[in-house]
Parts: sequence; structure tokens; C-alpha cells
Amino acid sequence: MDNIMNSPAYKAAREKAQELLKKLTLTEKIGQLSQFGNSIYSSEEKIYEDHFREGKVGSFLTLRGAEKTNKIQSDLLEMQRTPIPAIFADDVIHGYRTTFPTPIAQSCSWDPELTERCDAAAAKEAYAAGLKWTFGPMVDIARDPRWGRIMEGFGEDTYLCSQFAAAAVRGFQDNGKTPLLACMKHYAAYGACVGGRDYNTADVSLETLHEVYLPPFKAGIDAGAATVMSAFNDVNGVPATANHYLLTDVLRGQFGFKGFVVSDAGAVGELIAHGFAADPKDAVCKAFSAGVDMIMAGDMFNDNIPALLEEGKLKMEDIDRSVLPILTLKYLTGLFEEPYVDPDGEKIFFCEEHLALAREAGTQCAVLLENNGILPLKNVKSIALTGPLTHPCGQAHLLGGWCGIADPSRTVTIEDGLRAAIPDANINVIPGATFVHMDKEDIDAIASDAAGSDVIIAVVGEENGMAGEAGSKADLDLCGSQEDLILALCDTGRPVICLVSAGRPLVLSKIKDKVAALLNIWQPGTEAGNAVADLLTGKVNPSGHLTTTFPYTVGQVPIYYNHPSTGRPASGRWRFESKYMDCPIEPLYPFGYGLSYTSFEYSEISLSSDSIAADGELKVSLTVTNTGDQDGAAVVQLYVRDLVASRVRPVKELKGFKKVFLEKGASTRVVISLPAANLAFVNSDLEWVVEPGQFKLWIADNSADERFEFDFEVT
Ligand code: NOJ
Repeated sequence: MDNIMNSPAYKAAREKAQELLKKLTLTEKIGQLSQFGNSIYSSEEKIYEDHFREGKVGSFLTLRGAEKTNKIQSDLLEMQRTPIPAIFADDVIHGYRTTFPTPIAQSCSWDPELTERCDAAAAKEAYAAGLKWTFGPMVDIARDPRWGRIMEGFGEDTYLCSQFAAAAVRGFQDNGKTPLLACMKHYAAYGACVGGRDYNTADVSLETLHEVYLPPFKAGIDAGAATVMSAFNDVNGVPATANHYLLTDVLRGQFGFKGFVVSDAGAVGELIAHGFAADPKDAVCKAFSAGVDMIMAGDMFNDNIPALLEEGKLKMEDIDRSVLPILTLKYLTGLFEEPYVDPDGEKIFFCEEHLALAREAGTQCAVLLENNGILPLKNVKSIALTGPLTHPCGQAHLLGGWCGIADPSRTVTIEDGLRAAIPDANINVIPGATFVHMDKEDIDAIASDAAGSDVIIAVVGEENGMAGEAGSKADLDLCGSQEDLILALCDTGRPVICLVSAGRPLVLSKIKDKVAALLNIWQPGTEAGNAVADLLTGKVNPSGHLTTTFPYTVGQVPIYYNHPSTGRPASGRWRFESKYMDCPIEPLYPFGYGLSYTSFEYSEISLSSDSIAADGELKVSLTVTNTGDQDGAAVVQLYVRDLVASRVRPVKELKGFKKVFLEKGASTRVVISLPAANLAFVNSDLEWVVEPGQFKLWIADNSADERFEFDFEVT
């Protein structure tokens, strides 16, 4: 696949980098491996002047904006002995100023191209602000919604996440035109943190590591990802940031990665707290020798690498090997030719095109979980709007985590969206609901006020700080008294439409059957209110499908659809089987689930053959008909199960999907290809193999749908 890392421009950039490298002093080389945050520049002691003069700075993080980055860049270039522009990096996770839905939400669109478009737009805004590098996409598989960083990734499924990983890389890097270099993170198995507790240990078998956690990284690298970030956690006892097997043997050796690795913030120093390094010098030696090229952030490389070279623990060729890709990428992004950006470029922030995309994305990512027919709203005269997210603070929370660069005051609130969409309705906004405990009298007061309207809309969920980094939670219920509020609203007898905005799957079992409709809007971003109003009024038909399992209770966690087969599956026939005594074995909503205002029928399903060779391909064709009375999009999902194998296989695995838009009454023929190579798994010798044998295949609307089951064989 053509991408910036295998382009002729890359080759030319590398040649220039090789020439420059020959001219650098040791200090300048190590400087290229060192990233600094805000503190170096704003420091009273002006240490930056020394650092700039000596060439001890290669990159900055979280310094942004055309004016600011231009100023820093010009100071740096003027002071350095050998002028080498710095590369400015930041966390552009779901938009820069215009904020798009969070990545977990985006994955629910089942439309990787949507992510490519959102990230391309984000890249343009970030590029205008002087950035050339983002710390994204996060491609950690997350099977545990207690882990707050589940919001930053693309869900629990490896196949789906891999498609989104590649799309995000393409979007950010724009094939080299105005590239925001991508950084695949967090390498690796960060999402496997035990107990869903951030920064915690990950203990995964090598088979699972290779089969479940690593493929999205490989997919991003194949799409040309320029950089990778090493994770905080240890993987089977070796910190990812000092893991030679992961960073060198697998990443460079097996995956052919040619870019550079940056450590996560402070992760090199944390090798000491891990008990894996004795002191800063030892930590630098271990991280660098394992394959970390650039340190985020600070002077640890500047301070310790010279001594490590003198002691013979590191070699100059190791340093050169790390500096080369950094210089290459600086040439490739055009930094040497044009180290500054035109401040006028920032006019692109919140441009109409980006706002329209944010609105579209908001509608494509929401998942309709319940609907008794109340939606789409028709001829509604009066609406009571309540819940903590209707307050002004909702403007920030509806953006989700990692929106530090966004502007919450630009967020379209749910109220504003509804007023614009249904101008004739009387909207009664009822304050008083909070994310924390509320007294019964206050809840009752809200409910009795709400009872005066035809329909109640309750916007509940999480504050944005409750998910994201360090946002782990042990309880997944709606926090505070939100559940009581919803139940009290339901008791009024008025239909309650509950909108859930959160960074993770929440436990919704107590309200599921009480509300008239349940729409998981995630954290939709700048155009939240407009997108939600489009969905509620039926201007856009919901088509999002879950990419993480929604548990019935937190006690089921970790719960994911593609779990290995047990010898005692739950059948309900006797006691001694794999189940819980006190809650269902099934989740509340399965992976792949999502409702629509219309209905779809799958018919005339046929397989191109009932047997394929291990290097062959199966084609599954079907007719999809929109049998309802609204236009809408179906997400056709293809799952397989390998019936007998040399390792226990998952009960079901997603291996293909297609999202199709159909006008009401329309039909189309859909073909999904299943290359036998996609049936490969990692055997006990850590080799990817396609083993011959019998497989089951399902064409389904979600991972629990077994209406259309087929058999085929791999020979
Ligand atoms: C720490 C986070 O783990 C990482 O994802 C982020 O990119 C860096 N901080 C920089 O903000």
C-alpha cells in the first residue's frame, strides 16, 4: 500500500537526514531525541536559552498555536549552532478546535472512512496551529469499560479496530500533503490493565498479545504510521517502555516499522518505580536499548546518554539509528523548507465544512438502544428537558475527554439543537439535576415540573473527566442520583427519552425497560445538540452499532463477545456450567447491537462455495431490503467460528462488515469477501496459521443474532 513511509519523498528525506546527521555533535544528536513540554519555555530561569543554544531540544509537546509555535521555532533556529527545526506535537484525539465524537463513538459508525475524514479535518486545523505530529490514534483493544481510556480507542474487536486504525493514520497523515504524523499508541496491551485500573500491569499470553492486541498496530504501520508510543504498563513483567521484544523484535523486526518510538510521558523515569531500573541512568539505558528513540519529556536522555556511551553501554551507531528517522520525518513534513505556519491559516478553525462534518459524525455514532415508537418525534408540542448534561457545564462534557484545545463555548447544547429543530415546541428546561447525590424532594420537584410536558428528555451520563486518562471507575452505574431521577421521571407517566452521554459503556439495566427510548449519544463534540436533534426528529435515522459490549452489571466485566469457548457453556440446564448465580450470563446489549427507525431484511444469502483453500477467498452475497417506512443504513456483520483447532477459539469473531444506506422500500445486493487469510490465528508456536477444518458463519445484525447460520470448510 502506498503511504508516506514508502514514498519516493521518504527516500529523499532520508538521504538528506543522513547528510545532516554527519554534521551533528553528540549533544545535538541527543537533543533530537529529547522532547520538552511547556515548562522549558516558560521557565523563569530561562534554561531554554541554554538548551536552545546547545541543540538539546528536538521536539515540543502541548505548545500550540501559529503565533506561539512560530515564535518558539524562530528563537530556536536563531540560537542553535546547527539550525534544526523542532517538531511540535499534541494530543489531537478527536478534533483540534472543531471537536468530533470521541473515537469510541466514531467506531460505532462502522464507517472507517468517517474517521478518516474527521482526522483529516482535525489534521488541517492542527497543522494550521503549527503542529506536525499527533499522539494518536489510540488503538488499544479495550475489553473493560472500567478503564476510562476505552473512550480513546475503537472498541473491543481486533478486526474492527484494525480498520479504524488504518483509516485514522490515512486521515491524519493525508498522504504527506499536510501531514500530521500519526502515533500509534499505547504500545502495547495498555488496554489489558488488570481490573481496568489505569497504568496497571497487563498479564496476557503471547498468543493473545499477538492475536488480539497487536494487529491494530500492524494495520496502522501498514497504512504508514510514522511513529509509535511505548506504553506505561508492564507486559508480562517487562515494562513496555523497556521491552526489547515488543519495541525491537516485533515492531521493527516483524512489522517492518521504520519510524521512531516516543516513550509515553514520564514512562522512562517510571521504570524506577516499576522496580525495573535502579536509577535514571539505568532507566535510560534500558529504555533506549529496548528501542525507545525519543523521550517524552525532559532531560533524562540529555543527561545520561553521554555517560552510557563512555561506559560502552550504548554505541554511537545506536544513537544515529534513533536520530535518523526523526530527522527524516522532519524533512518529510517540510519543516526544513518551511518551519513556520501562516497565522491566517487558523481561520480554518470551526469552518463550515468541519462543523458540518462534526454534525454528520454526531449522527452516525449514536446508538439507539431502545425505542417503543416514540422516536422519531412527531408533532410534539411540549418537551421537558432535564438531566445534568442540559446545564451549561454540558457544553464541556458533551465534548468528551482530550478536548483541551477545543472551545466548550462553541458546543451546541441539546437545548439549542432542539430549539432550532423544533421551533414550535414549548421547551421547558428544568435545572437542578446533578451528577452527584440529589435529595428525593429535589428529584420529585423536577419530575413534577416535567410532568407538565408531552415528552420528557433526560440527558444523563458522565462528566468528561470521568473517562479518559486516569478515569478508571469501579462502578459503572449512572453516577449520583441519575438513575433515581430517570425512574421518577418515568413514574410521571410521561414518555421519557433518555440520552446517555458518556466516555464508556454504562450499566443501564435498571432504566432500560422503563424509558420510552434510550439513545447512547456518547460525547458527540462541537455539534452535539444539532446532531442529537437530527436524530430525535428523524432527519437522520440512527445507524450506530455498539463496538463494545454493554454489561448487565459491572460484575460481568471484563465481558466481550469474542471470548474463548468454555467446556461448559451456559445452557441453563444444570448447575455446573459457566455462569453467574446472581445475574444473567448475557450482556445487556451485545457487541454490534443498534436499532433503527426502519427495519431491514436479509434474504437470498449465498456463499460462493462451501469449501475454500487455505489461501482462497469466500464471498458471501445477500440482499438487504429496507422494509420499513424510513430511509436508513444497515450494518451487515459477518461472524465466524472455527469449530475445532489446535488452540481454543473464540465462540464468534467478526471477519467482515458492510454499512449500506437504503431508501425506504429499496433493496441492494451486498457482497462481503472473506479471505481465508482472515481466519488465521496465532498457534502455540506464535505463528499465524489457517488450520483446515469446519467453520460456522453468520450474517447478522449484531453478535448475538444467529438467524442466518452457514457452514463451510477450509481445505
Ligand atoms: C500521557 C498519555 O498516556 C498519552 O496518551 C498522551 O499522548 C501523553 N500523555 C501526552 O499528552
